[in-house]
Amino acid sequence: MKELLTDLSALQAPEAIGALPWSRSDMSDALDEFAALYARRPILDNMGGMTSAHLFNFWFVLKSLKPSTVIESGVFQGQGTWLIENTVPEANIFCIDIDWSNLKYKSEHAQYVSSDFSKQNWNQIDKEKTLCFFDDHMNAFERLLLCREFGFKHIIFEDNYYPARQGDLYTLKQALAGVGYVPTRNLRYWASRVKGTRHDVPVKANLADARRIREVAEIYQELPPIFIPKVSRWNTSYSDLPTTQPLLTNISKPCYEVFAEEAEWYTWIAYVQLN
Ligand SMILES: C[S@@+](CC[C@H](N)C(=O)[O-])C[C@H]1O[C@@H](n2cnc3c(N)ncnc32)[C@H](O)[C@@H]1O
Repeated sequence: MKELLTDLSALQAPEAIGALPWSRSDMSDALDEFAALYARRPILDNMGGMTSAHLFNFWFVLKSLKPSTVIESGVFQGQGTWLIENTVPEANIFCIDIDWSNLKYKSEHAQYVSSDFSKQNWNQIDKEKTLCFFDDHMNAFERLLLCREFGFKHIIFEDNYYPARQGDLYTLKQALAGVGYVPTRNLRYWASRVKGTRHDVPVKANLADARRIREVAEIYQELPPIFIPKVSRWNTSYSDLPTTQPLLTNISKPCYEVFAEEAEWYTWIAYVQLN
C-alpha cells in the first residue's frame, strides 16, 4: 500500500461551479454502508475499471438523486452495472459499450446497447430523472454538449484526468484549465470505431471551452477521493494536482483498509448538473 497523504495543507482546491446538494459529512457518514456493499462486489480484480473511490462516489450520487433511468456508457467488466442495480433497483438501466469481450457481470434487468450514446434515440426518457454516467473515455467536453442537446441534466464524468497529456481523453478538468489535449493512440483507436464524432481531434489550449462549460453547467464539482496517497500514480506530488480534500486521512476502521489500498487509482470524478 502506498503511504497516505495526511498533511493536506498544500492541497489546492479544484475548479468548481455551483454547490453540491449534499455535504462532505453526508458523504463521510455513508462510508460504512458503502464498505458493506463493496465487500459483496462480484468482480474482485477490476483493474482498468473503477475501484472503491470512484464506485463510492457513483453510489453516493445514485443514492442521493434516485434517478429513474441510468445510462452507463463504458461498461467493461460490469462492476458499475452491479452497483447501479444494487443502489437503485427500480431504475431502468441502459448499458452501452462497443466491445463486450471483457464483460463478466451481466444484469438481467439492464438493456445492453452496442452503438455509441450519440447514436441513440432518447426521446422516450424523462431527462430530468436520468443520470448519465460516462466512463467510455470519449471526449468529455463533446459528451457534455451532446447531453445538453439531448436535454439531460445529471451527468457523472469518470476519469476526469489532469494535467494535459495525462489520461486518454479530453476531460472537463483539462477544459476548465484551458490546457487543451493531444489524443493518445488508445483514444484514436476507440474513436475510430465510432464514426461521425470528434473524439480524436486534438484540442488546442483555449479558454473558450471553459467559458462554454460555465455557460451550460449549474453545477460542476469534483467528487472527493476517500484517501489520497502521498505520491500520485504519475509519481508527482498532489500539490500540483488540484484535488478535493479526501474524506479520510487515516484508517480508523478495518473496513476502510481496502479504500487505502486502492487510493492510488483515484483519477478524479466529476458530477455535472446542466441548466
Ligand atoms: C475504462 S473502461 C470502463 C470501466 C467500467 N466503467 C468499470 O468501472 O468497470 C472503458 C470502456 O469503454 C468502452 N468504450 C470505448 N468506446 C466506447 C463508446 N464509444 N461507447 C461506449 N463504450 C465505449 C471500452 O470498450 C471499455 O469497455
